Amino acid sequence: MKSVLITGGTGFIGSHTAVELIEAGKEIIIVDNLYNSSEEVLNRIEQITHVLPKFYKEDLCDKEALRRIFRENDIDSVIHFAGLKAVGESVAIPLKYYQNNITGTLNLLEVMQEFHCKKIVFSSSATVYGDPASVPIKENFPLHTTNPYGTTKLFIEQILTDLCHSDKEFSAVLLRYFNPIGAHKSGLIGETPNGIPNNLLPYIARVAAGKLERLSVFGDDYDTIDGTGVRDYIHVVDLAKGHVKALEYANEHQGIEAVNLGTGNGYSVLQIKDAFEKASKVKIPYVITSRRPGDIATCYADTEKAKKLFGWEAQYSIEEMCEDSWNFTVKNPDGVQ
Ligand code: WQD
Repeated sequence: MKSVLITGGTGFIGSHTAVELIEAGKEIIIVDNLYNSSEEVLNRIEQITHVLPKFYKEDLCDKEALRRIFRENDIDSVIHFAGLKAVGESVAIPLKYYQNNITGTLNLLEVMQEFHCKKIVFSSSATVYGDPASVPIKENFPLHTTNPYGTTKLFIEQILTDLCHSDKEFSAVLLRYFNPIGAHKSGLIGETPNGIPNNLLPYIARVAAGKLERLSVFGDDYDTIDGTGVRDYIHVVDLAKGHVKALEYANEHQGIEAVNLGTGNGYSVLQIKDAFEKASKVKIPYVITSRRPGDIATCYADTEKAKKLFGWEAQYSIEEMCEDSWNFTVKNPDGVQ
């Protein structure tokens, strides 16, 4: 049976996508170096789906290991999540981000070519839009990045664009995520950031769980509804279902498409805090601090293209995102280890 290779498949979005692909009847294989996730996630995927995915603990920078995976399996498409993804860290150690994210992707694409595998769904990010001139953001908006992490995403989008121009049989879908949050309803898989979370939701969840003292709200002087940053938060299960649709699209089309995966709705930091307090019934202490360098005021998606191409749109509410995130936190106070 033809298989889908999921790189970074034990990570937050990768594991949720693995569950949705299995439940859609796909045969999947996961490759992950476990730098930012745990092998226990495979057991959790099995508990949810009754299928234990075939797993290779390998790094995409090991080209021979990639060749072995393709030799040992009949892989006809790839969903590529693997990569370093901390914005702040990328500013501090850019060469590690370029080496890991770009070289790893080039190795993957070269081995795909050797084995005539010509379909890929790539985990890109709304960060490629930089600070948009207006919202909602459409896929044809100018692309501009303000940190090395975002630039690796932009470079990989360009590499895939050039590859599709050179090989007309190739098919690539670039999925530009907005802000993925939440967790599978079972509470068995969710977001387990290493160390102190950079992102808002896992940080708030740690405060609610008593692991962190209070939330620092990075600035309340933006031109938004309450002065705090506005983002398009999307349930990770909605995002995962969007990948299943994107893969179906890649299987039926050639060429390259960039598609936003968001809800089209923006929520401020304080609105998210309030929603999480309602979901967890725990008061979240907070303090207003200075803006975080590189942050933008407002970012949310135009979602028409995903509806048109995939027949997909986000279903879960912000309340469900917070409830599911809290459910996972309560069941896994130290994440999935
Ligand atoms: C959201 C809002 C902060 C933490 C980043 C990446 C993006 C994607 C998602 C990978 C902002 C505020 C946050 C905190 C706060 N990642 N905030 N206190 O910056 O929109 O996007 O993660 O693809 O590429 O750029 O997400 O969750 O860090 O911040 O006030 O402790 O919450 O200022 O307004 P962001 P975030």
